Amino acid sequence: MSTLSGKVALVTGGSRGIGAAVALRLASEGAAVALTYVQAADQAREVAEKIEAEGGRAVAVQADLTRPDAAQRMVEQTVRELGRLDILVNNAGFLTYGPLADVTTEELDRVLAVDVRSVFLSAQAAARHMEDGGRIISIGSCFNGRVPGENFVLQATAKSALIGLTKGLARELGPRGITATLVDPGPIDTDMNPATGDSADFQRSLTALGHYGQAEDIAAAVSYLAGPGGRYITGTALAVDGGYTT
Ligand SMILES: NC(=O)c1ccc[n+]([C@@H]2O[C@H](COP(=O)([O-])OP(=O)(O)OC[C@H]3O[C@@H](n4cnc5c(N)ncnc54)[C@H](OP(=O)(O)O)[C@@H]3O)[C@@H](O)[C@H]2O)c1
Repeated sequence: MSTLSGKVALVTGGSRGIGAAVALRLASEGAAVALTYVQAADQAREVAEKIEAEGGRAVAVQADLTRPDAAQRMVEQTVRELGRLDILVNNAGFLTYGPLADVTTEELDRVLAVDVRSVFLSAQAAARHMEDGGRIISIGSCFNGRVPGENFVLQATAKSALIGLTKGLARELGPRGITATLVDPGPIDTDMNPATGDSADFQRSLTALGHYGQAEDIAAAVSYLAGPGGRYITGTALAVDGGYTT
């Protein structure tokens, strides 16, 4: 039997990149998957169709997590359509890059809304429905451990908040056997951070392994934490960064 057979997972930002790889991986292990998108409806549908073509169950859900009500709505839709919720993967995000002096209040609010507030509200909504023994896994960043240059002040601020949030969730939900963990990626080749981009050589030079990772590398870590091997791992982060934070 597959390790996640009978489980239901909700993956935010599952239309592309890391989220799509996570959705496909969890489905390949037997989970039914709800995956969210904002604009990439076609890509989200393709991921869902691929899961169904391989015998799985998937639903694509539109959720713009800049909106405060979106987290609760997507959780409720997942439970309504797939029957329960066992695994929440907070993956949705976008890259912000630029000097401190240029960060506007609007940009600050937008980044904190998606990278922090929506993770908080999604976990809060999920905890109301989640089965005992569930998993809350958030995608952080190697900027949680190291900020190797200027222009990342906003990204580092937002992602670092997830450390405290994850530890708080672990304490609060631990009595129900629900774990809360962070996966902190290094440079991963996606639309957000292509391995052919302007700063790619610099990012490669900061890793111990000397190259970008693939979305599937992050999906493998999420899959481990979501599965039986992750049951005693909580309140902590796993760096999947090629040695970026070494
Ligand atoms: N790639 C890297 O090097 C790297 C490194 C460290 C951390 N990360 C983190 O990994 C996560 C995934 O990154 P990625 O590289 O896979 O990015 P990506 O390829 O750009 O995909 C981003 C995903 O997030 C969704 N999204 C964007 N804005 C959203 C919003 N307002 N509400 C809800 N969903 C939204 C997108 O949906 P639509 O396509 O439908 O708009 C898409 O599914 C992010 O949290 C990112 O910070 C990535």
